[in-house]
Amino acid sequence: MSLINIENLHYRYNSKGNWVLKEVDLEVNSGEFVVIVGHNGSGKSTLAKMLNGLLIPTEGDIEINGRSTKDRDNIWNIRQQVGMVFQNPDNQLIANIVEEDVAFGPENLGLESMKIRDRVDWALKEVGMEEFKRHAPHNLSGGQKQRIAIAGVLAMKPKCLVLDEPTAMLDPLGRKSVISTIEKLNKSLGMTVVHITHFMNEAIKADRIIVMDGGRVALEGTPKDIFAKVNQIKKYNLDLPQVAQLALELQKSGLDLPDDIFEVDRLVNLLCSLK
Ligand SMILES: Nc1ncnc2c1ncn2[C@@H]1O[C@H](COP(=O)(O)OP(=O)(O)OP(=O)(O)O)[C@@H](O)[C@H]1O
Ligand SMILES: [Mg+2]
Repeated sequence: MSLINIENLHYRYNSKGNWVLKEVDLEVNSGEFVVIVGHNGSGKSTLAKMLNGLLIPTEGDIEINGRSTKDRDNIWNIRQQVGMVFQNPDNQLIANIVEEDVAFGPENLGLESMKIRDRVDWALKEVGMEEFKRHAPHNLSGGQKQRIAIAGVLAMKPKCLVLDEPTAMLDPLGRKSVISTIEKLNKSLGMTVVHITHFMNEAIKADRIIVMDGGRVALEGTPKDIFAKVNQIKKYNLDLPQVAQLALELQKSGLDLPDDIFEVDRLVNLLCSLK
């Protein structure tokens, strides 16, 4: 079932400005893991902000669970359903203690305190940060802070997480912990995920990859479909995942390898089995 439905979306920041999003038609199904990639300025963040009504379509429509973001009366409901996580964890954490931070969302929903406590404990457990609940956020690593930010959104029990480059400011370890948290939330809770990233390695496990270019959806398909289109990927100023790039070079030098190698383990196994 489609959770997000975008029809003929056009957007510009001001009435005389350039169109930043053009003719975007997109559906995201409930439980789907969608990764959006695209060169700088292709419109990814603008699109993300439209998904919870932070920006409203200039033309066309966005519906979340059948509710249009254009109707002001829907915005409260839509913001509960679509939780946003941004690049900089420091801008998203407000309280001095982790559990207070995570409680902020459910408190705003007006839930009773027992219920808030349950939600906070549950959300911290889901992101693997329960043992840090009495810690001060500013003492945590970037990856831990970002997982706290995700817990804060989760505590609102949204249907969908929209993450705009959540790993951009993290070291490799932090990046890995955030990605495995997002993947786990999708697999174990069935959480719908829209993940925007510049790291192609983060797209290899997506159900679907969407490539944005110049405000349009340029390509759409499974990782296997998208990464097979090597020339188009390059045309949109994107790279292949590192392992796929390596596999391609090995193919060029004469090794008999399939086209859909994105993960190290798979490449190693295939190389070991070559005669
Ligand atoms: N507040 C704004 N006012 C006017 N133009 C804007 C505003 N924010 C973004 N833009 C323009 O809209 C276009 C799309 O920007 P957007 O930030 O959505 O791209 P992006 O794909 O997220 O880029 P990046 O990869 O750098 O994050 C760019 O040309 C940008 O300059
Ligand atoms: Mg952006």
